[in-house]
Amino acid sequence: MQIFPPLKDEPKRELTDIQKKILEAKKRRNAVVLAHNYVCRQIQEVADFVGDSLGLSRQARETDADVIAFAGVDFMAETAKILNPQKTVVVPDPNAGCSLEELCNPADLAALKAKHPGALVVSYINCSAAVKELSDIICTSGNALDIVAAIPPDREIIFCPDKNLGSWVEEKLGRKMILWDGYCKSHVEYAAPELEKFKREHKGVPLLCHPECPKPVRDVADCVCSTEKMISFCRQSGADTFIVATVAEMIHRLRRELPDKTFIAAPAAGNPCLRCSHMLANTPEKLLDCLENLSPKVELAPEVIKNALRPIERMLEMSK
Ligand code: 13P
Repeated sequence: MQIFPPLKDEPKRELTDIQKKILEAKKRRNAVVLAHNYVCRQIQEVADFVGDSLGLSRQARETDADVIAFAGVDFMAETAKILNPQKTVVVPDPNAGCSLEELCNPADLAALKAKHPGALVVSYINCSAAVKELSDIICTSGNALDIVAAIPPDREIIFCPDKNLGSWVEEKLGRKMILWDGYCKSHVEYAAPELEKFKREHKGVPLLCHPECPKPVRDVADCVCSTEKMISFCRQSGADTFIVATVAEMIHRLRRELPDKTFIAAPAAGNPCLRCSHMLANTPEKLLDCLENLSPKVELAPEVIKNALRPIERMLEMSK
């Protein structure tokens, strides 16, 4: 079991040599480091902004730095490039991808669209730029409910690629959609019986889970929320301890935001916590390298940028 006691009770940690070098390189390159809530603590500590996919998209669009070093996964860095194509966007590891993205082939989505010519395609941001080009509106886990709720009720919707996020939206809004059969390979590792047992062993401790979890798991949770909403839930809650069912690195962010609270990682498939191998590919060493060498760079064809920008901008307009 992994329990993270209040951060305020721990001695303050000195920056490591590599963290100091990252800060120097960032200055020299006039770079901004954007990091997702799921990357390692060492990177979160030196990032200019740590957040969810929505917050990171907004930061990428607004930055006036010359370089964006994006610690996350490829679709997030691609989104940054689409939103701010003049910037040099570099990533620590170009192979850091996403199972949801792999499970949605653009040709198959185009075929489904052809079968439902009147449907609006709402795509979770966890998809390739090619899928974004085929989409009408992008959403994140933080705004999926608001985006779908804003679509006229008689309009057919294809929701892709996450069937679990999609079914959660359906349940919450009482609205059927055509769901793509994709899922996050990490979040589906949670199982309701294992979590029910864990909850019994931690009586009274609220369990939070991400909407990428399957329905039986969501039904066991006290709150289903995006990574950013986990922070606001724990902040507002009178509880001092929480069980967190999402990628374990999220707990570093929660501890920094809420240093007087205790967090327990929820077990997944017999393991003490959930990890995402793609997010873990972002190491401090690789972050330093990409800042030093300005490589690997994210490059997209101008046509792709133009087409994929439309549904992303629509999302940003709709979630002001
Ligand atoms: P957020 O929208 O909470 O950042 O989640 C992104 C993600 O990829 C979850 O697995």
